[in-house]
Amino acid sequence: MYSKKNNSKDQTMLDEKTITWFMACKAEDVPVNGGVCVKYHDVQIALFHFTRKNEWYATQNECPHRRQMALSRGMIGTQGDEPKVACPFHKKTFSLATGECLSGDECAIKTYPVRVENGKVYIGIEE
Ligand code: FES
Repeated sequence: MYSKKNNSKDQTMLDEKTITWFMACKAEDVPVNGGVCVKYHDVQIALFHFTRKNEWYATQNECPHRRQMALSRGMIGTQGDEPKVACPFHKKTFSLATGECLSGDECAIKTYPVRVENGKVYIGIEE
């Protein structure tokens, strides 16, 4: 188990042990400035290509407001410098970077690291 006394090498080893990168899809499968839903086992993940900012984000697909599996179909944009997604049901917005609810509610969403290599998109899952 990780403790704060470990040096950075241990932290790296921890990351290698606990983050599983799975190939979610091809980069071309994700719409420009939009999202898709991908599954990792039984977990639905919303994957977004924020083309305008040349950035990728992944979050849980379930909106915590009414538990709709909908965030991958939400509109993305920015609030100040913060990239965000708006749930298509009641328009609550969430930071794509941190998962924080930007609509003033307590609910936050889970975010996942994303990397793109050779045209393939990988999402990191902590296990
Ligand atoms: S279900 Fe997403 S805002 Fe209500």
